[in-house]
Amino acid sequence: MKALITGASGFVGSYLKASLERNGWTVYGTGLEEEGKESLPPGFFPLDILEPKAIRRLLEELRPDAVFHLAAQSSVALSWKEPAWTVDVNVKGTVNLLEAVRQRGEPYPQLLLVGSGEEYGHIRPEETPVSEGNPLRPGNLYAATKAAQNLIGGIYAQAYRLPVVLVRAFNHIGPGQLPGFVAADFCRQIAQAEAGLREPVMRVGNLSARRDFTDVRDVVEAYRLLAEKGRPGETYNVGSGRAVGIRQLLDGLLALARIQIQVEVDPARFRPVDVPVLEADVRKLQADTGWAPSIPLERTLADTLDYWRGQVGNPKISEKI
Ligand code: GDD
Repeated sequence: MKALITGASGFVGSYLKASLERNGWTVYGTGLEEEGKESLPPGFFPLDILEPKAIRRLLEELRPDAVFHLAAQSSVALSWKEPAWTVDVNVKGTVNLLEAVRQRGEPYPQLLLVGSGEEYGHIRPEETPVSEGNPLRPGNLYAATKAAQNLIGGIYAQAYRLPVVLVRAFNHIGPGQLPGFVAADFCRQIAQAEAGLREPVMRVGNLSARRDFTDVRDVVEAYRLLAEKGRPGETYNVGSGRAVGIRQLLDGLLALARIQIQVEVDPARFRPVDVPVLEADVRKLQADTGWAPSIPLERTLADTLDYWRGQVGNPKISEKI
């Protein structure tokens, strides 16, 4: 079986590639050309998801059995700063891919569109843990683009019988995630403070939010299983099923720190709107695929902090946000 992962050079893509290969798949990936053509490893093709013709050419050349669509602007924080670009990449990019698949014709590859738990947005207390049929009330631009992707994917599944499986992934974290996401932001600061590269003071944003965290290594197993066993046209939550306070996440990391670190709340890290709770009901995913997360949050946090201990001082890690 041949898989194509769009946005394969990102955080999740490398784990997904490894998981698929372990399970006998041949995997190709796409990445942005600016990332450096020579730095793209074998099996990777430079591709901008905003170039429809290039997507068609690549599909024609590779004829994959499955396409995992990860290419996206994946940061909620960045979507407040780059709304138009977020809409372009996440909505137009998805349409470009779906159109390319439709126009190439049958046999269609199995398609996995990765959306977000953020699509649910303002969940009422009685609606949590939130299941796939819940109304969507997105609270930010990123969430709205992923809700649009889900609707558009559903239309292609219904109107053209494209085998599209729709995912709503909740927060996934682990070694290799870029700064700009909470666990990476916290771990990086702790590692820098431990190495004496900053004062032992870390800056944090909103600690009162609660999010459903899953290790990225478990998340990609869910994606693989959904490509193999998911029902076309259906939406699946991917999460741990348990919301954890950001304060609790921070305390867990501070307990792992090798030095005493003070915490300062930084108003610049707050967002105009931050949905209070996101917690997934994952019964549908479990029933259809047998998936269950296997890595406890404590290990994910320890592994992520260790990763950052190895990264501090690495000039390749950018400070985008
Ligand atoms: N990034 C960041 N940095 N977030 C912080 C910080 C900080 O220093 N301090 C507190 N937070 C809070 C945010 O306000 C938010 O409530 C929570 O931590 C999680 O923020 P992120 O890690 O940036 O993730 P997200 O929840 O906005 O989005 C992630 O999860 C979505 C699914 O629920 C991303 O992985 C999305 O791509 C994904 O769709």
